[in-house]
This record gives sequence, structure tokens and C-alpha cells, in this order.
Amino acid sequence: MTKFEDVQQALHTHQATWLITGVAGFIGSNLLETLLKLNQKVRGLDNFSTGYQHNLDQVQALVGPDLFKNFQMIVGDITNFKDCQLACQGVDYVLHHAALGSVPRSLEDPILTNANNVTGYLNIITAARDAKVKRFVYAASSSTYGDHPGLPKVEAVIGKPLSPYAVTKYVNELYADVFARCYGLDTIGLRYFNVFGPRQDPNGAYAAVIPQWVAALIKNQTLRVNGDGETTRDFCFIANVVQANLLAALSDNPEAGNQVYNVALNDSTSLNQLYQMMKALLIADFPHLAQHHATYAQFRNGDIRHSQADISKARKLLGYQPTHRVDQGLHEAMQWYKQNLLNQTE
Ligand SMILES: NC(=O)c1ccc[n+]([C@@H]2O[C@H](COP(=O)([O-])OP(=O)(O)OC[C@H]3O[C@@H](n4cnc5c(N)ncnc54)[C@H](O)[C@@H]3O)[C@@H](O)[C@H]2O)c1
Repeated sequence: MTKFEDVQQALHTHQATWLITGVAGFIGSNLLETLLKLNQKVRGLDNFSTGYQHNLDQVQALVGPDLFKNFQMIVGDITNFKDCQLACQGVDYVLHHAALGSVPRSLEDPILTNANNVTGYLNIITAARDAKVKRFVYAASSSTYGDHPGLPKVEAVIGKPLSPYAVTKYVNELYADVFARCYGLDTIGLRYFNVFGPRQDPNGAYAAVIPQWVAALIKNQTLRVNGDGETTRDFCFIANVVQANLLAALSDNPEAGNQVYNVALNDSTSLNQLYQMMKALLIADFPHLAQHHATYAQFRNGDIRHSQADISKARKLLGYQPTHRVDQGLHEAMQWYKQNLLNQTE
């Protein structure tokens, strides 16, 4: 039995109370779906700045009305300390995911990114400390590796941040470390590497590459590759991220706490490969793709050339075992996008 199977079995027989911040977003709503299916009590906090009610409606449809009764939604803002205090009351585990993502957004509006990702973070971690939660798990980011050229990325070796967003995510780690040292708060940071899957937003100027491209392919629109397409990423399917969160929250390994972990596959996929994989998965349903070609544009400011995670620390200390490779994840994600994007355009 894997550690994750152990954890899921334990949760089936023990109901804990969880707070998911950013619950209406991509990762948050997937965490919600899994926890409700495991019969957990979940409180959600979100201000719907980049998240959607339709993500929560979809979770409700997937888990059914009985399990959805275990969910309590607070519409609120992590930049407001009172909202954070209310949200943390009586909570066992916090999975903190509310933040403004996107490197380009942070380059355009560093003040707004800082307010959400640093001030908001300080509010929620302080409220979690005051509420004496058992563990505070938070979304960190591979952007913290910044300009360090080493590959694969190991947690202990980072470079200088390349964007305001990366600064905010590194500050999160510094605060977590200080809250552990000064107040004894138990924290775990998860450095995600390009997560993808159902409910990731394909719309807007700051959409991530995979949903943006699926939308372009399905709708036969121009698809822009930043640079020559040989930029590589360690794309990570959402199921692996959900697994890492549950393992992190519930790990009883005394060495596991107050650490940060890479969460990805230790894989490397170029943008050109990604484009071909996605096209191959969609072409049967969308024959127009036989004539589709990518458009190459300039490299994007703040982007790193290659990114690949060493995941041995999470494997060793948390028992993390990714269940989905990139192609398996893409296959699942495409089913969802086919249904949901087509409904949107009808
Ligand atoms: N998706 C990725 O590839 C990736 C990679 C690295 C790190 N992360 C981190 O994971 C977390 C979740 O990312 P996601 O991809 O699900 O993004 P998302 O935009 O889909 O979700 C973020 C959610 O947080 C909410 N939110 C934002 N600011 C808030 C505030 N001030 N108060 C309350 N709610 C607020 C948004 O409305 C949204 O529902 C973020 O912290 C992000 O930085 C994501």
C-alpha cells in the first residue's frame, strides 16, 4: 500500500476540519473535491478575484448533495485579517492557496501581487498560528529557483528571483520558517512546477500555457509560443498536487515538518513537444488541427529557460509517488476541456 493510500484510508474513518484558501480557483477546487469525497469537513475562503462560482458548482455536482453539506464557504479576502481569523477558527489543517498567480501580472502590478501574496499570506499564517492549527500547508513555487542554472532543482539551492511574483513566493517560505522557529507553528511549503488539469482557467491575459493552448486548438485560433519552443518545463498533473497536499498535511514523519518540497515529476517536456502531444490528443475530434501551426513570438520577460524538479525529498520524507505522467494527465485534462470549452462556445 502506498503512503497516499494509507492516508486516504485513515481519512475515511476520521473526519477532520480543513481550511482551503483560494478554494474557488483551479488547485483549491480540486483539493475541495478530493477532501469532500473523503468525507472531510471543509471551509473555503475566496474573494473570487481569479476563482469562479462555477468551479464550486462543478465540485457540488461531482460529490453530490450529501457530501457537499460538509462544505462551508466564506466569501472574504486574505488581505483582511478579520476574514482570516474567522476562516481559521476550529480548523485542524490549512491548505493555503489564495494568491495572485502569474509572473507577467506581477511585472505589471507588483503592488497588487505583494498585497495578496505577502500581506495576505502574513494575515493567514498569523490567524492559523492564533487558532493553533495542527499544520499549515501552503503553495510555494518553482519560481523561487530564479536565476540559478542548476538542474534538476533541489530544494536547498536557489538563485535570485526573476520577478515580483517570485519574490512574494520566497517571502512566504521565509515567513513559514520564522513562524516555525518563533512560534512553533508546524508548516510545509510545496513548490509547484507548472500544474495543469481540470478547472484551470483558459481565459484572460494571464492564463497558463496548457489551458490557453487547448482553447486555441479547439477553437482553431492562433497559438503563440514564447521563444523557439525548446524551453522546457516539468509539467505536473493536478492529481499529483492533491496527493502532495494530503501527504504534507498528515505526515507523521518527525523530519517532514517545517520544510519545503518540490512537487512535480522530475520530467522535462519542451513547449514544442507539448504542442505536438496536445494536437495528437485532440485531432480525432477536431480535424481542422491537421492544418494548425504554432506561431513563434519573442521570449517572455522573467521566464526561465529550463525547469525540472528533483522530487527525491518529497518521495523520501512524505512518501510522495506521482500517479500521473504528463501524457496521462493531458489525456484526462483534455476530456474535461473538450466538454467545458465546447459548452462555453455553444
Ligand atoms: N497553477 C500553477 O501552476 C502554480 C504553480 C506554482 C504555484 N502556484 C500557486 O498555487 C496557488 C493556487 O494557484 P491556482 O493555479 O489554483 O490559481 P487560481 O487563480 O486558479 O486560484 C487562486 C484562488 O485564490 C483566490 N484569491 C486570490 N487572491 C485572494 C485574496 N486576496 N483573498 C481570497 N482569495 C483570493 C482567487 O479568487 C482564486 O480562486 C497560488 O498560490 C499559486 O501561486 C500555482
